[in-house]
Amino acid sequence: MVPPDVETVGGRVVFDNVSFAFRRPDGELDPPVLKNINLTIEPGEQVGFLGATGAGKSALVNLIPRFYDVTEGRITIDDVDVRDVPQDNLREIVGIALQEAVLFQGDLRFNLKFGAPQVEDDVMFEAAKAADSYGFVTNIPQQWEAPVAQRGANFSGGQRQRLSITRALTTQPKVIILDDSTSALDASTEGRVQEAIPDFTNNITTLYVAQRISAVIDLDKIVLLENGEIVAMGNHEELLESSPLYQEIYESQLGSGITAGLDVEVAK
Ligand SMILES: Nc1ncnc2c1ncn2[C@@H]1O[C@H](COP(=O)(O)OP(=O)(O)O)[C@@H](O)[C@H]1O
Ligand SMILES: [Mg+2]
Repeated sequence: MVPPDVETVGGRVVFDNVSFAFRRPDGELDPPVLKNINLTIEPGEQVGFLGATGAGKSALVNLIPRFYDVTEGRITIDDVDVRDVPQDNLREIVGIALQEAVLFQGDLRFNLKFGAPQVEDDVMFEAAKAADSYGFVTNIPQQWEAPVAQRGANFSGGQRQRLSITRALTTQPKVIILDDSTSALDASTEGRVQEAIPDFTNNITTLYVAQRISAVIDLDKIVLLENGEIVAMGNHEELLESSPLYQEIYESQLGSGITAGLDVEVAK
């Protein structure tokens, strides 16, 4: 089978009975942090991942660009095992923005085109608009030539996250993973970015890892992880009906005033 490339890929991601354990320096496997994950994400779908710290959300999404390889089972993109996709293709197909945005010393253009130095500025501008960084960047006198200090220290946490999303979009991937990378944004900015991403790349498959229900409430599907296992899956209404754990999270976040599902609605 021909491995997918970014021109032709549809962006269907399937976890087929995936288990994963970290390997210790002595070569032995730790206890598994992901167990029997079965999950199909269709092209263009927006899927959220919720679960307590340590539930395995990052481990799960990091397996797609092969930061680690599965211990059992397989992950496919358009029916091809990711281990059979050349690294360069995989890097073009799958974009990822991490919570701790990785920024390098250099100017903004260098940082934002890091994965795709050949792309036109216009693509970067559109990516920046979608990720809500265009406004603050164009307010800096040097704009895209503005220097970035080590670890992006001259930008706020929310700005670094938006720059990190901008970079992931600038490579024009077909699958984008935002691993806790909107946590420093207020709910209305987060909602705006979520709505802008599918407009930026038609039919892009989007995976959001989030702490707050507000970040996933409007998505097509929410996957609830607990101790490395999928314990519930569905949209917000379905999970409210069916999952006691989801209800619990929803109520605790509502109770502490964090749930901004309401804000998201207002922001639309
Ligand atoms: N590099 C690592 N080596 C060993 N264990 C790890 C490593 N990174 C994470 N873990 C463990 O894997 C489990 C899942 O972690 P993670 O996927 O980061 O959870 P989440 O993103 O849901 O907070 C946790 O028990 C965590 O301690
Ligand atoms: Mg994580």
